[in-house]
Amino acid sequence: MSFDKRILCIGAGYVGGPTMAVIASKCPRYSVTVVDVDQGRVDAWNSGKPPIYEPGLDEVVRQGLGRNLFFTTDIARGIRENDIIFVSVNTPTKTFGAGAGLAADLQYWELAARQILEHAESSKIVIEKSTFPVKTAQAMERILMSRNDGIHFDVLSNPEFLAEGTAIRDLMNPDRVLIGSRSTERGLKARDELVQIYANWVSRERILTSNIWSSELSKLASNFFLAQRISTINAISAVCEKTGADVTEVAKIVGMDSRIGSKFLNASIGFGGSCFKKDILNLVYLCRVEGLEEVADYVERVVRINEYQKERFVLNMLTAMFNTLAGKKICLFGFAFKADTGDTRESPAIDVTRRLLEEHAEIVVTDPQALVSAREDLADLERGVSYVADPYEAIRGCHAIAVMTEWSLYRELDYRKIHDLMVKPAFVFDGRNILDHQALFEIGFNVYPIGKRPMSHF
Ligand code: UDX
Repeated sequence: MSFDKRILCIGAGYVGGPTMAVIASKCPRYSVTVVDVDQGRVDAWNSGKPPIYEPGLDEVVRQGLGRNLFFTTDIARGIRENDIIFVSVNTPTKTFGAGAGLAADLQYWELAARQILEHAESSKIVIEKSTFPVKTAQAMERILMSRNDGIHFDVLSNPEFLAEGTAIRDLMNPDRVLIGSRSTERGLKARDELVQIYANWVSRERILTSNIWSSELSKLASNFFLAQRISTINAISAVCEKTGADVTEVAKIVGMDSRIGSKFLNASIGFGGSCFKKDILNLVYLCRVEGLEEVADYVERVVRINEYQKERFVLNMLTAMFNTLAGKKICLFGFAFKADTGDTRESPAIDVTRRLLEEHAEIVVTDPQALVSAREDLADLERGVSYVADPYEAIRGCHAIAVMTEWSLYRELDYRKIHDLMVKPAFVFDGRNILDHQALFEIGFNVYPIGKRPMSHF
């Protein structure tokens, strides 16, 4: 079958896989190929059971498989046979050398650029899809420009704003699609080509175009704004706990100001996920390199408050449970960084577990999707943690529940039965404010929400 466009994506992860599956589903006349170095991951995608848990994803993938959606490890062929190449490789925070702990590790990205350079036999549009630091597209252009045989590479920036757990909905119905390009004739032509792809299902007014650097910076800025809201409400939650104010009431009142808006004001144990911390630290690094120390300090505070919130949570547990957690069993309800995903990257549950172990507590982890990842995250620990899928089994003999993830199933459990299974006095620390605190208190629990007055029987 001949296709109208031939699209390749390098990287079959949380962004590349779902995004390409949606493009394939919305554009049946395009061929969409996703390459990845990991054979196991490619096999999983090809089997119709994707290696990541994302509501609605299986169905979209199955629709495309064998029709116009292909997963493979053959990168050379992928580059040769496709004209439009998305680069969606991971860009973890550097752990070594200059910028360690702050800057993005661009080795996978550079490898992708060099592979494109090596295998391309015709001109390509190369689209930066992963979140990169500002000016990465320019560096990519420079690598690609080193070939002087009439083959051109036009580099575009097209950051992805999807959130995990709602990826398919976000991709099908995005708030906006952003395309950054050069304003040269070639740059604008490449941009229009990408606009055309999205216009298959996204209305034109939602497709924004800008220069490359605005596009790259807007992604970092968006994540900074979002994370900043969470750190702000979490900072207020600490004040609430000291003053007797209720953070849910405060968030509602503040959020009804239409200039502020009500979303992303849920006080919590802290934000996690692969993007927020990494992108904010990238922004911090960028500011420091550019000599913008005041800005860097301001941006960095958002991450520091997030760390503080996790530490505060653990200290609240310690104080409530008579200043010792040694030998006490604590059941973590959820390990994923948010509901509806099995992803645990930067999950607050990781830090909370490690801190509780420092206090010599014993940890039981339960989660409907993330137990495999949780085991990997804590693989270095020799003892002190067990993993139990069934929450009723997990809670048996525990002194406390700590809610880490807002899975709706935790709202629906039989807390009378749970109370019976626990050591008394039984405690609930609701790191997501999702449970019915009054009802739990009446059952006999001592309840410690975030940013609200605790309800204790003592
Ligand atoms: C985020 C951005 O939302 C998305 O646009 C970007 O492309 C990638 O980063 P994601 O990390 O998947 O997406 O999830 P998000 O829903 O933003 O949640 C991030 C973290 O903040 C989670 O740990 C979540 O539980 C927490 N959160 C969110 C809060 O603690 N309170 C809130 O009010 C909202």
